[in-house]
Amino acid sequence: MSGDHGRKVASMFGRIAAWYDFLNHFLSLGLDILWRGRLVERMNLPGAKPCRVLDLAAGTLDVSLEIAGRHPGAFVAAADFCLPMLAKGRTKLERPGRIAPVQADGRALPFRDESFEAASIAFGIRNIIPRAEAYAELFRVLKPGGRLCILEFGSGRQPILGGLYRLYLNRLLPLVGRVFSRDAGAYRYLADTIMAFPDADGLAGELARAGFARVEWEKMALGIVVVHVAVKD
Ligand SMILES: C[S@@+](CC[C@H](N)C(=O)[O-])C[C@H]1O[C@@H](n2cnc3c(N)ncnc32)[C@H](O)[C@@H]1O
Repeated sequence: MSGDHGRKVASMFGRIAAWYDFLNHFLSLGLDILWRGRLVERMNLPGAKPCRVLDLAAGTLDVSLEIAGRHPGAFVAAADFCLPMLAKGRTKLERPGRIAPVQADGRALPFRDESFEAASIAFGIRNIIPRAEAYAELFRVLKPGGRLCILEFGSGRQPILGGLYRLYLNRLLPLVGRVFSRDAGAYRYLADTIMAFPDADGLAGELARAGFARVEWEKMALGIVVVHVAVKD
């Protein structure tokens, strides 16, 4: 069941890879750039000191690039199971670089236990079913004291701007997605998964149950997006 879901998700991102970056910036009015920046700030990486970071669901590598750009000592494993997304991201890399794209499923990571000082996942965890398998893998590959930072949409069920946000999600988003990427289904899927996603408290509970400690979160843009920070003690 979840393998089938994974194949559908990978194929959907493969179809929209060419338009992904443009539509991200367009649909969020450029705010997605600030949100990823905040995610990376919350990772508290040591400036120039060497460290290994996992960017899961790395997509077209925007978070990986942000990490490498801000932290000259960071080596980033950019893992994603969708090759066209990674290929699109690769075009933004300088060579030789400190970002290594790796095709991998977040539910079965090809890395040794305790390999990373920190891990990020931006707009990715919503797509993984069951999420608990990804949490378990992220927990396994983090070193003790390692930080997991998750950037994700908040639950679309919360009333934001008197219901305007819900209208945007369910009506405008699929329409704009269809016009540009010719794939209304992908942007319908985006709206549906945001509507079904747990609220910040619910996600924090999931992380605590997965073994993470000191779970906290920060809402941005009226709660449209949330950064969760959790530590493997
Ligand atoms: C919305 S994009 C986010 C990309 C990037 N992190 C960003 O901030 O733009 C979601 C990504 O998650 C990836 N993804 C979804 N499920 C995954 C899984 N089980 N394992 C690895 N990657 C997955 C998709 O292929 C896609 O590239």
